[in-house]
Amino acid sequence: MSKSIQQILEQDSLTKENIIQLLKSTGEDEKALFTKSSEVKLNYIGKNVHFRGLVEFSNICKKDCLYCGIRVGNKNVDRYDIADEEILKAAKFAYDNNYGSVVLQSGERSDKEFVDRIENLLKEIKKLSNNELGITISLGEQTKETYQRWYDAGAHRYLLRIESSNRELYEKIHPKNENHAHETRLKCLKYLQDIGYQTGTGVMIGIPFQTYEDLANDLLFMKEFDIDMVGMGPFIEHDETPLYEYRDQLMSLNDRFRLTLRMIAVLRILMKDINIASATALQAIDPLGREKALRIGANIIMPNITPTNERANYLLYQNKPCIDEGADDCTNCMEARINMADGEIGYGEWGDSRHYASRR
Ligand code: 5AD
Ligand code: FES
Repeated sequence: MSKSIQQILEQDSLTKENIIQLLKSTGEDEKALFTKSSEVKLNYIGKNVHFRGLVEFSNICKKDCLYCGIRVGNKNVDRYDIADEEILKAAKFAYDNNYGSVVLQSGERSDKEFVDRIENLLKEIKKLSNNELGITISLGEQTKETYQRWYDAGAHRYLLRIESSNRELYEKIHPKNENHAHETRLKCLKYLQDIGYQTGTGVMIGIPFQTYEDLANDLLFMKEFDIDMVGMGPFIEHDETPLYEYRDQLMSLNDRFRLTLRMIAVLRILMKDINIASATALQAIDPLGREKALRIGANIIMPNITPTNERANYLLYQNKPCIDEGADDCTNCMEARINMADGEIGYGEWGDSRHYASRR
């Protein structure tokens, strides 16, 4: 006979079957899961929510991922590349507003000019913040040398989502060529960890062909890989991408949303002291989506501080929230939202993952 959710939640460790059962839970069972994950969060992380000021500085991308709105094959995108001084202004804003940390994200490029430019930007951000601002980068797959150079220049965290730990599923949502190999993604995560970055990964939830077992394996992969930070969000179809073809096979947006919350809750129980981001894509489905994720286990939120005139062009998925707001508006709105979620903002702190500290 299968165990009750209550029994599973009392265990010290979870099997894959337990995880699948938790991911499928509804009603009172789902509530029990969320109660448990909130308790774990309060015990291990506390109420503090950390800000990462997100700068999406360019939507130029050499990749062609079948789900992503800014893929190189999408000719309808107005491509932009924000000038260095604007990026530095955004970083200064984050510093002046005590954000503690910024995230630089863009489409993937690895030409020499790009690599040099990032190295220089990292040094400049360190300088303008008296070495105080933490810097996360999320710039895709690169060589080990490039990762090392950026690390030496001041970046200390890197986000690279595995998208799915199942190689076959990964291959279904990417073009079949050596530029989009699952193996490369894994190798890159290893490089990042070896160099000493706090390493973050994540998956999309509700992609076509994905099963509950895939998702349970994703969570076990994160644990096995001993990851420090995770950002995962619902898949949101974009009508200018090839995967749009499968829109009729997807679960409802609301189901993807709930399942993402359950993924976050189970991950919090599995990896008690890691940083878990409340993904912006949650807010694209439910206006209070990110707050709900904070309540049940997430502890990081990434206010968008990209200069407003370019925000509308960084549409990885449709219905992206906050594309008209300026950075100041975002801060006020975030404070209100975090208070509502019964959290407190960890202003001025780097907010390193406790997990990373204990791993070193
Ligand atoms: N829906 C949800 N998330 C998406 N991403 C890219 N396209 C989509 C989409 N259509 C996510 C990927 C990527 C991150 C930057 O954005 O997981 O790693
Ligand atoms: Fe840009 Fe996937 S489309 S990295």
